[in-house]
Amino acid sequence: MRIVYVVGTRPNFVKTAPVIAALRARLPEGRHAVVHTGQHYDRLMSEVFLEELGVPAPDHMLEVGSGSHAQQTARVMERLEPVLAEERPDLVLVPGDVNSTMAAAIAAAKLQVPVGHIEAGLRSFDRTMPEELNRIVTDQLSSHLFIHSPEASDNLLSEGIAEEKVHFVGNTMIDTLVALEDRFRGLGAAARLGLEPGEFLLVTLHRPALVDGPLLPETIGRLAALAREMPVVFPVHPRTRKMMEEIESEHPGLLLSEPLGYLDFLSLLADSGAVLTDSGGIQEETTYLGIPCFTLRDNTERPITIEAGTNTLLGLDPAAISTIPSTLESSAKHRDPPPLWDGHASERIADVLAGEGQSG
Ligand code: UD1
Repeated sequence: MRIVYVVGTRPNFVKTAPVIAALRARLPEGRHAVVHTGQHYDRLMSEVFLEELGVPAPDHMLEVGSGSHAQQTARVMERLEPVLAEERPDLVLVPGDVNSTMAAAIAAAKLQVPVGHIEAGLRSFDRTMPEELNRIVTDQLSSHLFIHSPEASDNLLSEGIAEEKVHFVGNTMIDTLVALEDRFRGLGAAARLGLEPGEFLLVTLHRPALVDGPLLPETIGRLAALAREMPVVFPVHPRTRKMMEEIESEHPGLLLSEPLGYLDFLSLLADSGAVLTDSGGIQEETTYLGIPCFTLRDNTERPITIEAGTNTLLGLDPAAISTIPSTLESSAKHRDPPPLWDGHASERIADVLAGEGQSG
């Protein structure tokens, strides 16, 4: 069996690394080629992650870089097509919901190469989010839809996708977290910053709806106000950094940093008292770790994190940031990960695909 894995952004690496490892172990005679689209290219957003996750150097680098949505999508399609012609894969595996994901799914499907989608079926039902369009298109073009929460199956069936294509395998991002737990627990990233475990707020923000417009200055102002009550640690995504520079934002009292490596980030996350984010993956990681998470969005494609009791949807409303301390006081901490978020999702993906490889 010949498999091509297409990754492009920081969360893609986290979701795909354990799947590559599981399939290499299960199909040692197969060809396992990794394509890095280059959607994320800063060392801190890319190489550091691949190194920490133990992903071998990619076999193909497409170096698409930044651009408009159409430019980025088109560049991936254009540069991936000859790679697929050379690799002649039996399957292309794509994770998540970024532009690289959708572009790879289109390029492969047009060449009649079957597509497997890791993290299929998530829906925010908000088509103003670029990721929602990427999810819908990728799922429609996929022949193997690997899901990590039960409502994903309902979402897919209601869009006319055949049930036999859908496999409930669990969460591969949590596989990575479980595999790294011993390493990040020992790092003490909070102590290195002089922070007491459980006493600080960790912040990540990068979505266009929040950082590309007028909500950013108000958000920073509210965070600065909160920092008078508890330390606020904010590793800044490049997109957000660029916007903060444009508005010449002042941020008194906030502990800003460059994007962190994954181990340092998980160490801080596990030690934090709470998290404020607009990320998808962090809603899941906090659910697994039992850390209260406040999501600064109007909706989430991950309702299971709300059902689990760790995630609170604040709305796309910076004013809601000031409610965090009182909500925290009244909320109980608990840790009850959703079904199949157990560190073995990638093995289940390998079971599905290796079973087919043998019968076909
Ligand atoms: C992308 C994904 C988003 C995902 C996020 C994770 C899409 C539509 N968006 O958002 O779903 O949650 O990745 O991080 O695919 N930049 C750098 N260095 C980099 C990468 C980006 O400086 O390594 C800057 C550039 O100014 C670029 C901007 O960040 O224009 C945005 O990057 P882009 O890849 O368009 O989207 P993200 O905001 O990273």
